[in-house]
Amino acid sequence: MPVITNVYDLKRLHKMRTPKMFYDYCESGSWTEQTFRENVTDFDKIRLRQRIAVDMTGRSTASKMIGQDVAMPVALAPVGLTGMQRADGEIKAAKAAAKFGVPFTLSTMSICSIEDVAEHTDKPFWFQVYTLKDDDFMRRLIARATDAKCSALVITVDLQIMGQRHKDLKNGLSAPPKLTPKSIANMMTKAQWGLEMLGTKRRFFGNIVGHAKGVTNPSSLSAWTAEAFDQSLDWNRIAELRRMWDGPVILKGILDAEDAKQAANIGADAIVVSNHGGRQLDGALSSIRMLPEIMDAVGDKIEVHLDSGIRSGQDVLKALALGAKGTYIGRAFVHGLGAMGEAGVTKALEVIQKEMDTTMALCGRRTVDQVDRDMVLVPEDFAGRWA
Ligand code: GLV
Repeated sequence: MPVITNVYDLKRLHKMRTPKMFYDYCESGSWTEQTFRENVTDFDKIRLRQRIAVDMTGRSTASKMIGQDVAMPVALAPVGLTGMQRADGEIKAAKAAAKFGVPFTLSTMSICSIEDVAEHTDKPFWFQVYTLKDDDFMRRLIARATDAKCSALVITVDLQIMGQRHKDLKNGLSAPPKLTPKSIANMMTKAQWGLEMLGTKRRFFGNIVGHAKGVTNPSSLSAWTAEAFDQSLDWNRIAELRRMWDGPVILKGILDAEDAKQAANIGADAIVVSNHGGRQLDGALSSIRMLPEIMDAVGDKIEVHLDSGIRSGQDVLKALALGAKGTYIGRAFVHGLGAMGEAGVTKALEVIQKEMDTTMALCGRRTVDQVDRDMVLVPEDFAGRWA
């Protein structure tokens, strides 16, 4: 049993144990992957302020996101095809999150359906939707999430058109995987993955196949996704979607202060400062770099969360110190899932919580409320001078 001390240990195992096309899907950004890389390296530019002789007993990472109690302010982000990283992946990740006490967000593009995840977990989860043209399908999805007692709706607002990820095109990514000599040869080296996949019926996009008109198999699905996303999306439509859900709404994919102000105006409960993990607009600035400007614009009007680039508890604390109330991990939990199934997701959460806890102690902070701007050192030119 390998000793896991950080998320990168899980990443190495994920790579060894999962078919290449699914590992690559997780570990990709669009085009040159500049934004994907900088999401991570920009966190390294922020340093922590060591403090001593502050009573560090009785520490806690507990907090709240959109008014809901969380064991630490780290939600599992919606990630498409999670059930291809490991059989029944969304159910496994949701179970790990529920036991740990953090929110799990189910992607519309999941393999396990909303109903499947609800049936196998006993705590409410969050549901993510894209902005789709088909109003009827959209309303039915939202009704299904209501029936499943989801406790928040996350609306992704930065993916009406897909950023090109070279690896997915080259690998011929699909769910279930297309059987070619190359993919078969690769899958034969992933015995545990294959055995578990043979043992489940969940190998298609469970929220879509059989639910969206005309989508009955994976090949009709790719045609559907290409035309389903609403390229005419505007703030009126986002406001309409907000009104369809009778509960907290989180808008995910805001990277500009002007957009953040609009999000606050339409009555969203929170925004996620995000560039979609560097998977959409390559060349955009990292989420952590954009956070201070967005906090200045809307920090007193709406709850602000952040994703993209978080790989450690220290990254979580840096985002909180710059004003975020919550954060999301995508790749970090998927590495855990691909490495060791449900236990791996739990491991990723434990590693992050321990990093948070020790760092808080060494910085003289006992509670998440005490994590403030004074805890970090940010280079004067961190935001950069862009014209
Ligand atoms: C879907 O949202 C993706 O980034 O692949």
